[in-house]
Amino acid sequence: MQNKTMNTEEIKILFIGDIVGRPGRNAVKELLPDLVERHSVDFIIANGENLSGGSGMTFDKYKEMIDVGIDLFTTGNHIWKNKDIIPHLDDPDIMVLRPVNYPKGVPGRGMKVLEKNGKKLLVVNLQGRVFMADDVDEPFSLISKYADDNKDLPILVDFHAEATSEKVALVNFLDGKVSAVVGTHTHVQTSDEKILPRGTGYITDVGMVGPEDSVLGVEKEIIIEKFLTQLPVSHKVATGAVEFGAVILTIDQKDKKTKNILRIKEILKLNR
Ligand SMILES: [Fe+2]
Ligand SMILES: [Fe+2]
Repeated sequence: MQNKTMNTEEIKILFIGDIVGRPGRNAVKELLPDLVERHSVDFIIANGENLSGGSGMTFDKYKEMIDVGIDLFTTGNHIWKNKDIIPHLDDPDIMVLRPVNYPKGVPGRGMKVLEKNGKKLLVVNLQGRVFMADDVDEPFSLISKYADDNKDLPILVDFHAEATSEKVALVNFLDGKVSAVVGTHTHVQTSDEKILPRGTGYITDVGMVGPEDSVLGVEKEIIIEKFLTQLPVSHKVATGAVEFGAVILTIDQKDKKTKNILRIKEILKLNR
């Protein structure tokens, strides 16, 4: 997927929101070639915590999506759901991150440097603490330290978090220290994409790639029943038209600031 009009001064990143199950994977396969070509994308990163059956990631679905061109997956609170991926997370070649602020000693890693087209990008996966079930380490000072330690690299942070306040506070805390902060986890795209005064690109949530007529990708009746009864339910990925949520970030290689953030939301009607 090399392009002919690549700008050597700029790094272009396609960041795709949480891909939900088969409908999400099929939508990515459908749209990816055109997006990469049209926008001269260098790096393709996606949140994969809902890749398999709508929750978690299996190794075969990871491979399936790497084969269509995803360079790196970030994840979040569903990373431990499918046990078959867990032994692979320590493989130095696997292109999957789990949040960096998980307890010491757990499998996997939370950051990785990507290199392509003579360009480098440090990607950090971070998880929030507000309204999240997992008790993770305080994310603000941790990511600040990693930014200080990697001043020579452009840095993209996937902040996997529920609360808007925590996400907005983090990006203001990091403005000028990292190239961009993109939010994931809520599956609902926000329209607040912007560049902060010191050059950090931001969106509160990129949204998802999953069935539009659903609750966050899951059959809506199941989730409504859960709210009505509080009884345990099994999630089932919904069907029908798929929304595709993503952003394309343009980062200056020299000053590492975001020059542009383009929000993408498309609705696809797939016959598979
Ligand atoms: Fe998710
Ligand atoms: Fe999540």
